[in-house]
Order: sequence, then structure tokens, then C-alpha cells
Amino acid sequence: MLHNYLIIAPQTLTTRVSTYPMELKYHPGFGSEISSEALPHALPKGQNSPQQCPYGLYAEQLSGSAFTCPRETNRRSWLYRIIPSAKHKPFVSIEQGNMSNNFDKWQPNPNQLRWKPFKLPEDGKNVDFVEGISTVCGAGDPRCRSGCVVHVYTCNKSMKDKCFYNSDGDFLIVPQLGPLHIKTEFGELHVDPLEIVVIQQGMRFSVDVTGPSRGYILEVFDTHFQLPNLGPIGANGLANPRDFLAPVAKFEQCEVSTGYTVVSKYQGKLFAATQYHSPFDVVAWHGNYYPYKYDLRNYMVINSVSFDHADPSIFTVLTCPSTKPGVAVADFVIFPPRWCVQEHTFRPPYYHRNCMSEFMGNLCGQYDAKKDNLPGGATLHSMMTPHGPDGKTFDHTSQMELKPVKVEGTMSFMFESSFSLALTEWGEKTCCTLDDDYYKCWQDLTSKFDPNWKPSEDDGKQSHTTSTTT
Ligand code: FE2
Repeated sequence: MLHNYLIIAPQTLTTRVSTYPMELKYHPGFGSEISSEALPHALPKGQNSPQQCPYGLYAEQLSGSAFTCPRETNRRSWLYRIIPSAKHKPFVSIEQGNMSNNFDKWQPNPNQLRWKPFKLPEDGKNVDFVEGISTVCGAGDPRCRSGCVVHVYTCNKSMKDKCFYNSDGDFLIVPQLGPLHIKTEFGELHVDPLEIVVIQQGMRFSVDVTGPSRGYILEVFDTHFQLPNLGPIGANGLANPRDFLAPVAKFEQCEVSTGYTVVSKYQGKLFAATQYHSPFDVVAWHGNYYPYKYDLRNYMVINSVSFDHADPSIFTVLTCPSTKPGVAVADFVIFPPRWCVQEHTFRPPYYHRNCMSEFMGNLCGQYDAKKDNLPGGATLHSMMTPHGPDGKTFDHTSQMELKPVKVEGTMSFMFESSFSLALTEWGEKTCCTLDDDYYKCWQDLTSKFDPNWKPSEDDGKQSHTTSTTT
């Protein structure tokens, strides 16, 4: 089901009815140059850094790329704020929790891995979004700006007088349970399950939740997410740029006498600094470096309408490219509701071994290749780990009548990376949800080999059949 967006004046803003007790406005578009003002004329005219900014604001540039990057990859925004970000007490190291960027401490595990739903905070224990981030697996090093990491978050408490920013890379956040109301320097975003939000390197944000909440985070160190090229698909399709929504400038002017905590993830460790003013004091901003959200239900699915199973790259929402042509640091891929109509075809994903790592999560419903991949859980099939449908799924789908079928009520996703993802201790042991029996789903696969098999008269003519029933 698509959400309806109401176009309001000015034409560059959209709004949607939210479950949160307020209506938020957004700027639509992906990678656009946006100008956003919470007060009229707050953006300087004709220059970025005048001797005196309107309203007595300070000008501050947030760079998301090297100054000298070519225009197509150059990202920066100018923020006009009440107090510069620089005004804070020194950062000090804080408790790391289950967040980690060290992937050399734990034993590699080449097995097929599946997690039952990750546990929510225990009764009586209050955990906010940052405290609730636990690292499952990853590779690389933020100091070299190379690699990617998979985290999950489980929390039940809003962040109070506390914000977070990631010095190491970008977060792509996929809520599975509970909405996230996110306050950022650029404005506010409300993100429900089946929506995603991308908060990029350096952007300060604070998360409010309404109860027990759970989701997944893909962190990339190298560069930023972009829309995949469409090639022969043409100018439209997959995730359309107009469906990405950026916040509208909104500021709060407040002193926090008890101290406001700014948490930074820096070189894989957590640090905190105290300041006595809100970090969300940006009255106006312009540029092309900002957080954004996207409703997965807006994805235009492209798929085979003749025969065979398209590679899952056809379901890519966003990609973080590496320097090798066609090879991603990480792709964000979804398996949304869609029609399956392929003739004389084994319709679930084929058995395969991949030179990429595949971390999958289920947001709702049943994944078509395995009925036991539960919402809130996950699987990891890392480098060359063989996988595919379980025995029951194979037996059923290789014999079933191939009517057109609508896959409905389901949304799974995959973080697919060219890095070999290593588990953390939390991912393999401490989380306590790793399914030791996962390998058993393939143990009932039996040989169906018949050395006396003979082609029937119809074999070789399959590509010309039109025998699908309706
Ligand atoms: Fe796979």
C-alpha cells in the first residue's frame, strides 16, 4: 500500500499523516541542492559566509566529501546556527556497550548462520537507541575509511538531552519494530517500519521511540549511498528519486543548564562531550548533504515476466559503490510484494555460492525461500557459503502448478557486501539468538538423480509454451 503524500505550498514540500502527534513537512528528491529556512530570509543572499549572517547566526559548513571531489560526488551543506558545533567541553571515552568496529578478536565462522529475533530490552531495563546498538558482523577499519558493518538496535527509551553522530561513516537504518522519531540538525524525520532512513557521517541526531523498538543498521565507511544505475531499464523504475524525503529546517533555541550530551562514534569507539545548548539550533541550511528517508512501499519492482529467476541485484534500493566498477561496498536490497509469473521456472532463489557476503533480515511476513526466517531475526551467508531453499521449499516449489502468484504481506531485505563479514562475539555468543539448528534445513535434501532419465517430446520446446493457467 502506498502512502499518500499531500503536495502543499510551496510546491517543493510534501507532508504526510504520521502516527506521531504532528505532521512533518519534507523536501522530496535524492541528492538535490536544497535550501531550507525555518525563519524567512535566514539564508544569506548570494554568498555562504557573509561578514554578518542574518539573525546573528553562525555559518558552518558540513563536508561529506573531499573539497576537490568531482561535482557528481561532491557533498556538502551550509548550516546557519545559533551556536557553532565547536562549543562543547572535551570528549571523554564512555562505555562501549555491544558496539564494535574490531573484527579481528573473534574466531571466523564460515557456516550458514541464522538468528532468531534479536531480544528486546528486558522488563525494567531502559535502553535508548545509542545504548541499544549491538554489532553483529563487519569488516574493515574506519581509520582507513574502508569497510562496512552490520548492527542491530533494540531499545525502549527516548534519548533525553543527548544526541549522537558518527565520525566514521554513514548509517542506513531499517526499523523492524516501532517507529523512530528522529531529530536532526536539518529538521525532523518520522520513520515507521517499512521505511528506511540514511543519516550520514557527522550529522547529529536524537531518536525518540514510543515503546520497544528493533531494527537493523548498515554502516559504510568508504563513501555515500547512491541510487543504482538503471541501464536498459530506462529513466524510471526501482527507487524513484522523488520518493526520497529530506527534513525541513527546524530549530530549538534552548540552554540546557544540566548539560546536553553529545556522543561521537570515533575510530570505532564511543566518546561523549557536554555542552549547555541544544545541537538542534540550525535555523536554515542549504546544500546536497543531508539525511533522508524512503518508504520501501514506493519501490517499483522490475522482475522476469517470461522465465528464470532474476539476480537479486534487480531489487537494489541504494548502493554504496567501491572503486571497482560494478562492485559495491554494500548494496541495500529488498524483497517486496510482487507478482511471480515465470513459466517453467523454479521460482524461489536458486542455490548459490557468492563471492559477496549476504546479511538478510525479515521485516514482516514470510520470506519465500525459508518459512523460519522470522521477522526481527536475520541470516548471514558470507563468502562462498552455500545456501538456497530448504528441502521442503524445494520439494513443494519444484512440483507446484505455476500459476501467477502474488507475494504479499512480506518485506525482507539484504545487505550485500563485497567485504568478507566477520562475526563479533556478541553476534555469535552474547546475543543468545543464534539458531544452532539452521544447517538442518538442508539435511532433508535428497538425490533425485535418475541415470535413466529420457527427454520427453515436450523438452526443448519450453521456451515456446504458453501453458500457464490463471
Ligand atoms: Fe543468497
